[in-house]
Order: sequence, then structure tokens, then C-alpha cells
Amino acid sequence: MRIARVVRVDDYPFPISVAVPVGLIINELLSNTLKHAFSGRGEGKIEVSLATSEGGRINLAVSDDGVGPPPGFDINESKTLGLRLVKILAEDQLQGTLEVTSDGGATFKMEFDMGGGGSAG
Ligand SMILES: Nc1ncnc2c1ncn2[C@@H]1O[C@H](COP(=O)(O)OP(=O)(O)OP(=O)(O)O)[C@@H](O)[C@H]1O
Ligand SMILES: [Mg+2]
Repeated sequence: MRIARVVRVDDYPFPISVAVPVGLIINELLSNTLKHAFSGRGEGKIEVSLATSEGGRINLAVSDDGVGPPPGFDINESKTLGLRLVKILAEDQLQGTLEVTSDGGATFKMEFDMGGGGSAG
């Protein structure tokens, strides 16, 4: 199987409290893509982007051009461990937003503040 990777990551010193949950999220979303998105397909593309904006907002997106989420998919209703963990990390740990779209594949988008994982508030 041929997988094309596109990775766009801003070179920015993230605090460890952000880097750890972000790493866990990317790890789960990438393994999901390899596990679910390209079944029965010979090739696919995975894109990871992590962009910082001036106000200290961070946009993280992981997308693929695979089969897309199953019909009726709702990440907020997910009962399986992987995506529940992603939701908890994005919304509770990073105090951010999470949305899933499917336009010829699956796209997971998150937005949070630089200090989102900070315990100091
Ligand atoms: N990139 C993707 N493309 C297509 N379907 C996906 C993708 N990511 C997730 N899914 C769908 O969402 C479901 C839930 O994903 P989730 O990561 O929660 O569970 P899992 O990968 O099956 O098991 P695990 O708990 O071990 O991660 C998957 O079973 C799959 O049907
Ligand atoms: Mg999974």
C-alpha cells in the first residue's frame, strides 16, 4: 500500500502540557487512518497540519482521503476508546473544540489555546 504524507507543522515551542495531549491525539488519529480509512484501497493520502496564529490559538487538523466515517457517525456519541480519548484530550485537557467532517475522506479539526493544557489556568 502506498501512503502519501503531507505534514505541515509550525516550528513553535509548545509547552509540554500542550505537546503531550497533541501527540496522543495525532497518534490515535493517524493509527485510525491506517486502520480504517484505506481498507480495500491501494493508496491514500494523510495530511497533518498544526498551525499557530497570533493570538496563541492553535489549529490542528488530521485528514485523509479514504472511505470516510461510517454513515450516521457522530464523534460525540462515540463509544469506542480511541475517539473518546481524542474528544477528552481536545475538549477537556486542551479546553478546545473538535469537529469532524467528511468530504471525500475524514477530517478531524481541533482548535485550542496555547495555554489550553496549562494547570495554572
Ligand atoms: N480516518 C477514518 N476513516 C474512516 N473511518 C474512521 C476513521 N477514524 C475513525 N473511523 C471510524 O470511527 C470508528 C471509531 O474509531 P475509534 O478510534 O474510536 O475506534 P477503533 O479505532 O475502532 O478502536 P480503538 O478504540 O482501538 O481506537 C472506527 O471504528 C471507524 O469506523
Ligand atoms: Mg482508534
